[in-house]
Amino acid sequence: MSPFSARTDFPRTWNPLARALAERRASGRPLVDLTETNPTRVGLPAPEPALLATPRALGYTPEPQGLLSAREAVAAHLASRGVRVSPEHLLLSASTSESYGWLFKLLCEPGDNVLVPAPSYPLFEYLTRLEGVETRTYRLPRAHGFGLDVDEVAAARDARTRAVLVVNPGNPTGHYLQEGELEALGALCAQTGMALLSDEVFSDFAWDEEPGRVATVAGRALPMPTFSLSGLSKVAGLPGLKLGWLHVGGPEAARDEALARLELVADTYLSVNTPVQLALPGLLAQAPRFQAALLARVGENRRRLLQARSREARWDVVPAHGGWSSVLRIPLAPGEEATCLALLDEGVGVQPGYFYDFTGGAFLVLSLLPPPDVFAAALEPLARVLAPSG
Ligand SMILES: Cc1ncc(COP(=O)(O)O)c(C=O)c1O
Repeated sequence: MSPFSARTDFPRTWNPLARALAERRASGRPLVDLTETNPTRVGLPAPEPALLATPRALGYTPEPQGLLSAREAVAAHLASRGVRVSPEHLLLSASTSESYGWLFKLLCEPGDNVLVPAPSYPLFEYLTRLEGVETRTYRLPRAHGFGLDVDEVAAARDARTRAVLVVNPGNPTGHYLQEGELEALGALCAQTGMALLSDEVFSDFAWDEEPGRVATVAGRALPMPTFSLSGLSKVAGLPGLKLGWLHVGGPEAARDEALARLELVADTYLSVNTPVQLALPGLLAQAPRFQAALLARVGENRRRLLQARSREARWDVVPAHGGWSSVLRIPLAPGEEATCLALLDEGVGVQPGYFYDFTGGAFLVLSLLPPPDVFAAALEPLARVLAPSG
């Protein structure tokens, strides 16, 4: 009998594509890597490192919800986006991933489940399983631009469903939640007792204006316990600093109970370090510079990508409104993996749609973060590999 728990028994074999990409990197041969999503490796502006070296950085003030000065900085950041929240309803964690873990502890008994969108970013399977929680998938139909269809959410739930997760805007689909979608979701949650977890890590990265867009669920009067998640890793491009935040909303009694319980969970770990909390006001004050540079970069790369598509092309850039990636719809044959491997042979790394659980077609996912000259170098091989053969 294994001495280890079943929930840590994850498959550890590499898929052929990940292996081929690692081999290409190790070979030292040139690689235009459009799988690069690390914001610290693509030449975008970073804040002053001196912000972390404050005189009080080595002090210790255990404060389960996070230092008030840091929570006030998050509230000020949201206020600069037109969203009014009280620092009392905010909780700091070491990352969005950690916030998810706390919320699953708060909301679920072992064996309960939460609804997760597909396509979406692939970490939920791990985050839930490690908490003894199961996932049930609701599809984001392509016909809705990969937006939320409340009938799909309703059909996915069962008697053990405790919450629905939305990623707003979607990663990698770049679709923002719409007022009508949120209203329908609110009614369903209120009727069925589900909480709402809204992952808003990419919310600041809108490419355009859209009527009816919901940038965040924080600060809204919604009929169910509502948790809005974000953090420094995307907002300021600083995943290494390990700081996330969680806004708790919804009906007052449930909100206050959730906060009291979460405070206890947070107190058990006290995982947020002092230097980053003290630096948070300065880090968030400098985030607009990073965000503006990133948006300019992403806009330029996306413009070049659209330009690289000839009129006869058998591939399309999937319409989107924000985020750090673009999704391409490609011909069904030879398929996602064969196309990725062919591109890798040409020295271009991209991700297949199945990494994100796309169905109903073949898709590629491209990071828009690389510098424009790097990104542009991928476009000729991309158009060639995707061109009809013969
Ligand atoms: C949609 C989404 N949520 C959360 C995360 C993780 O964020 P953190 O670094 O704060 O855990 C990511 C990371 O890529 C993400 O894409």
